[in-house]
Amino acid sequence: MILVTGGAGFIGSNFVLDWLSQSDETVINLDALTYAGNRENLSSLIGDNRHIFVQGDIGDSVLVAALLAKHQPRAIINFAAESHVDRSILGPEDFIQTNIVGTFHLLEAVRGYWANLQGDAKQQFRFLHVSTDEVYGSLTKDEPAFTETHRYEPNSPYSASKAASDHLVRSYHHTFGLPVLTTNCSNNYGPYHFPEKLIPLMIVNALAGKPLPIYGDGQQIRDWLYVKDHCSAICRVLEAGVVGEVYNVGGWNEKPNIEIVHTLCDLLDELRPRDEGKSYREQIITVVDRPGHDRRYAIDASKIERELGWKPSETFETGIRKTVDWYLVNQPWVANVQSGEYRAWVEKNYNERCA
Ligand code: NAD
Ligand code: DAU
Repeated sequence: MILVTGGAGFIGSNFVLDWLSQSDETVINLDALTYAGNRENLSSLIGDNRHIFVQGDIGDSVLVAALLAKHQPRAIINFAAESHVDRSILGPEDFIQTNIVGTFHLLEAVRGYWANLQGDAKQQFRFLHVSTDEVYGSLTKDEPAFTETHRYEPNSPYSASKAASDHLVRSYHHTFGLPVLTTNCSNNYGPYHFPEKLIPLMIVNALAGKPLPIYGDGQQIRDWLYVKDHCSAICRVLEAGVVGEVYNVGGWNEKPNIEIVHTLCDLLDELRPRDEGKSYREQIITVVDRPGHDRRYAIDASKIERELGWKPSETFETGIRKTVDWYLVNQPWVANVQSGEYRAWVEKNYNERCA
């Protein structure tokens, strides 16, 4: 049995679905169901007793301790977090609460559980913390990609809170011997991506005839990885990673934002042409830049490739086409996530940028 936190979010739900498509090992899924948690992502698991969903907070150490005592998982994979940089700029507090304080309480509960395990169960137990390349800060155009030993230089409240959580996880290994693994991944994309992030927002807005807002000059570079490749990397690290080690995960796919948006427009022009025959590119607009916007992220994934033999299976071209197809087929999912709270936040964010 494994315990996944944040398994109703974008990456967590892909992970749970992929895990149960390859294994009969039960997953306990602990998720607070914030605006980003969506049980509809897991609707194919209704009635599947290999999936036990628990609504709750990673910061609730009484709840977590009770779950651990009851289910005795052999591993925990911690996806739960506030994850959106723009939200961390408009309101950092939830990020501090979940990503730092919540991770601390989770670690405390896990430490208590692990201390009481015996023999093989204690030896084999793992706590895998899912983190981000953003903790390393921003690269200039010519700097080499981030390796695992790159200095931490987080620039947003989101990345600072993730950096703090990484440090706590590291300290629980060095001080208490907790068998931890940490992964730092680049930008993911794929099914169930909440339409506040660049790729799903552009697809959803394009189809709705709305503007496609590019922050600043659109030349910021991100390194894109198809979400199912991130999930396979996590499985591989869980299986073979060396305790206490950090593994960077990425797809060697650096692209400027404007190129991503052009690609999405071109795919939509091909797959769902606009009625009047014009390109979706005509919907692109420039808006005020994100404060403190990191210019470039790039992951050097050589360590996980060399030491654990992991490689992504999608190229950017195959992954982005699958993603656009998924959003075209899953329009009801999009409609359902566009809840009142989500719309209110989108309005606030973009009204301020366009003013
Ligand atoms: P997401 O925002 O889509 O999902 C986060 C999930 O965590 C949601 O289901 C939410 O309900 C849950 N959650 C939030 N606070 C919680 C709490 N206090 N207790 C329990 N559950 C809580 O995020 P995502 O994009 O799926 O990211 C998952 C993890 O991967 C995060 O830790 C993020 O930092 C990391 N990451 C994301 C990316 C990316 O490109 N999305 C890249 C690298 C790393
Ligand atoms: O690098 C990994 C990180 O990737 C994860 O840790 C975060 O959880 C995840 O949200 C993502 O962060 P980004 O800030 O890179 O993702 P986002 O989709 O918000 O933005 C991607 C780029 O696109 C960024 O340079 C900002 C820009 N952008 C974004 C939006 C939403 C726009 O130009 N317009 C937009 O409307």
